[in-house]
Amino acid sequence: MNYEVVLPAAGSGTRMGAGKNKLFLELQGTTILVHTLHVFEQDPKCTGIWLAVKDSEREQIEQLIQEAGITKVKGLPTGGAERQHSVRSCLVKMEPTDLVMVHDAARPFILQETIDKLAAVAFEKGAAIAGVRVKDTMKIVRDGIIQETVDRERLWSIQTPQAFRYDLLKEASDVADKVGFLGTDEAMLVENIGHHVHIVESSYENVKMTTKEDLVFGEAILTSRQA
Ligand code: CTP
Ligand code: MG
Repeated sequence: MNYEVVLPAAGSGTRMGAGKNKLFLELQGTTILVHTLHVFEQDPKCTGIWLAVKDSEREQIEQLIQEAGITKVKGLPTGGAERQHSVRSCLVKMEPTDLVMVHDAARPFILQETIDKLAAVAFEKGAAIAGVRVKDTMKIVRDGIIQETVDRERLWSIQTPQAFRYDLLKEASDVADKVGFLGTDEAMLVENIGHHVHIVESSYENVKMTTKEDLVFGEAILTSRQA
């Protein structure tokens, strides 16, 4: 199942506190962005890569792409204020295709087997997203007081990639754009138009590089993979 991937990369990395877009930080000498790009460059089923970028960072990113020998990038449209707008900037530029995957550029450790499962389920069912079961006990708290302990069996932490038939995601994005619906992931846009979204069990390694501690974990993952 071939697919094109959309990588939102136009964030600011505020929570990382590095004073620059966290995607330019390096793990074992390679930027987080290039680690992520390599995954899709190497997957023969990925037929195109779209990057949503800030205008001020486009040149720097184009240079990283060239130096890393990444050949599949089809476009680097200007991202928006919210991640959802950044993803949409790519969706409106690409030609209709069978499958689209949306993947945070800040998740460099996605496994090939998860990508394969997502592509297969999305091709069959229309929409599939990566997630892992929560490990901690989860409680709802109000004003510092526990209201309820939530049944953990039903709770998942959602990651990316999120994979969709192109037509379905484009329709969901168009509707959200028209009515001003803002979701925290693409699945919410698809749920919003009444379509089922399936979950694919992913790996705990597929963390998003969000705060400084994540970089420590990231270095450790790379070391363990070299062992
Ligand atoms: N992203 C984007 N456009 C935005 C916001 C985020 O393309 N307006 C991208 C980020 O570059 C990142 C992915 O979406 O690859 C996931 O977002 P997040 O982890 O929140 O990254 P940042 O928004 O950069 O970080 P922060 O929220 O801490 O500022
Ligand atoms: Mg953010």
